[in-house]
Amino acid sequence: MDSRPIGIFDSGAGGLTVLHECLVTLPHEDFVYLGDGERCPYGPREAEEIRRFALELASYLERSGVKLVVAACNTAAAAALPYLQERLEVPVVAVLAPEAHAAVQATRNRRVGVLATEATIESGRYADVIHTLDAGVEVVSVACPKLVPLIEAGGPNDELLAAVREYAEPLRDAQVDTVVLGCTHYPLVRPVFERVFGRGTTLVFSADETAREVAETLHRKGVGNDSARHGETTFLTTGSPAEFAALGERFLQLPVAGARRVALDELAFEAA
Ligand code: DGL
Repeated sequence: MDSRPIGIFDSGAGGLTVLHECLVTLPHEDFVYLGDGERCPYGPREAEEIRRFALELASYLERSGVKLVVAACNTAAAAALPYLQERLEVPVVAVLAPEAHAAVQATRNRRVGVLATEATIESGRYADVIHTLDAGVEVVSVACPKLVPLIEAGGPNDELLAAVREYAEPLRDAQVDTVVLGCTHYPLVRPVFERVFGRGTTLVFSADETAREVAETLHRKGVGNDSARHGETTFLTTGSPAEFAALGERFLQLPVAGARRVALDELAFEAA
């Protein structure tokens, strides 16, 4: 048994969708969530900068005493996962591979669509992981630069719906039967994607698949907490605690009261 908390980070509020799924699966664990609201979005940034930010967040969590770090940001995972795993002592579980795996299992016509940020699509990581599992799957990737800023700005509205429809079109034309929503912000507006794609398309969300991966990792390593207890979550953000709380509470009915602001220079010092 290991009573230390699990650390989760994201560029902003998107990783709360992974936290939510982890809370459903592992209600007895403690969590520390760190969002980089001040520097969100990561999607338009260069890979090297994203790597530096991801290392700052992950090492801050490691130094705060977590037993495992969850990279709950596809953009950070695509740019930085091996780099984080080499530098951290604690295990790092990340989004991206779990949902690529689920998509390969789910597709019947072996045509898979991927919607994600520009940096994630440019990295080519989804196609790489999918092709490692099944080299015969056709992958159609679409970068969605409008979505994270629209979601962080407050969620569903006509502009968001128009953007989702625009990004869905090339996937329809390619007749994919499975779509990976490769950004942890997207489940915050899950019903919009469900309505745009309809019942005929299987949607794969990073949050669900990653929570499963976290639970299995704790179980196999034998580092779970006492299953009879109720866990607690601490919220940290580099941005505005009030805005962060509003997103969490609005989309997930997650009480985010008491989020503490972490200054960027505290992170930079930790990574030095
Ligand atoms: N939630 C992040 C992801 O999963 C959002 C990226 C961003 O900040 O642009 O990719």
